[in-house]
Amino acid sequence: MKFKYLYALCLSILLWTLYNSNSTGAGSANFNCNNCHNGSSTTTKIDSIILRDVTTLDKMIKYSPAKPYIITIYGSNSGALNRFGFQMTHGGKGSFTNPSADCQVSGNIWEHKQKITGTSSKFQVSARWNSPAKGTGSVTLEAYLNAVDNSNDATGDKPSSKFSYSFDELTASDSASVEVRITNTYDPKNPNSVIIFKAFPTNGGPTPEYQWKVNGKNIGTKTSEDTYTSSTIRGGDTVTCWMYSSQFGALPNPAISKPIVVVKTNPTSHVKTETNPNFPNIYIFNKVLYFNEVKEKIELSIYSIQGKLAFYNPLNHNTSIDLSHLSNGIYLVKLKINNEIVVKKVELK
Ligand code: HEC
Repeated sequence: MKFKYLYALCLSILLWTLYNSNSTGAGSANFNCNNCHNGSSTTTKIDSIILRDVTTLDKMIKYSPAKPYIITIYGSNSGALNRFGFQMTHGGKGSFTNPSADCQVSGNIWEHKQKITGTSSKFQVSARWNSPAKGTGSVTLEAYLNAVDNSNDATGDKPSSKFSYSFDELTASDSASVEVRITNTYDPKNPNSVIIFKAFPTNGGPTPEYQWKVNGKNIGTKTSEDTYTSSTIRGGDTVTCWMYSSQFGALPNPAISKPIVVVKTNPTSHVKTETNPNFPNIYIFNKVLYFNEVKEKIELSIYSIQGKLAFYNPLNHNTSIDLSHLSNGIYLVKLKINNEIVVKKVELK
């Protein structure tokens, strides 16, 4: 009687083992490959798990919520085993998508669909991990890698131990930014007056670095200097600062300031006034900006008196532009024609 039960048990284990085809994926019930696979005295390791930004391919150490990342598992076998199977779970935080042709995703699991051939016993596989909603917090990915001898059974193989990788969500204390302010009082009517620009970083860390730019072009290289002083800067020039935070994990790096547009009268040699044939006259009526005689393409930027870009039209051929969406107030209209710039103050009312 007892033997009958034992026999039935052995048979069912054998049948279950035979029909549970793991070379095409182990399934969520078989997460620990060591429960069945063994026999090789080599070592199998998951060396690292790396998350990359989909567009910049930058390595990420923390994640932004609800964003896709490229996830890559790197592993190896110390011997000559060069076929691999694996399984990774995100434990319900986020989702895996876009597996390669030799892999599959089911529920929380991403795994091999067929044996994956390594390169000299090195293993690598990638997919997308789509991060969870804001406020999810720390995520732990767990994985096993199994290096097998391609004998279509569970012997002669070597699974890794469980590899866990935890990483945090980006929070407000990780977001870097920088603001540029003019810190001195200068005479905007004097073309030679000195203007001091100073960068105010947020989460810049103990030793932030700054790259100052005028009209998008670098002024020197990046240094720890948080001020930029100039007497030669002209009316209509824009000043920006790129701040490279030294705080671990702070993003974006660099953080880029909003541009400041210099308000200053320029030496007459530089400024083309409306009497110059290249520049049209401009006037405002009922919140419509009119140019007379547009002969060439005009790059038009309109800034609030605080220096904030309110309107931009890179190449304008129109003779009138409706600005009724802008609120009442004083604006600086910057016209650029063939690299010559003129700035005019206008009032919208
Ligand atoms: C419950 C036992 C069991 C567990 C747990 C298990 N396997 Fe298997 N595995 C088998 C058996 C039985 C075979 C042979 C039959 C087959 O090819 O499916 C096998 C075969 C394989 C093969 C092909 C082996 C070769 O040498 O050709 C790979 C690859 C594989 N499993 C990967 C895995 C991975 C990866 C895990 C863990 C995530 C895992 N298995 C967990 C039982 C198991």
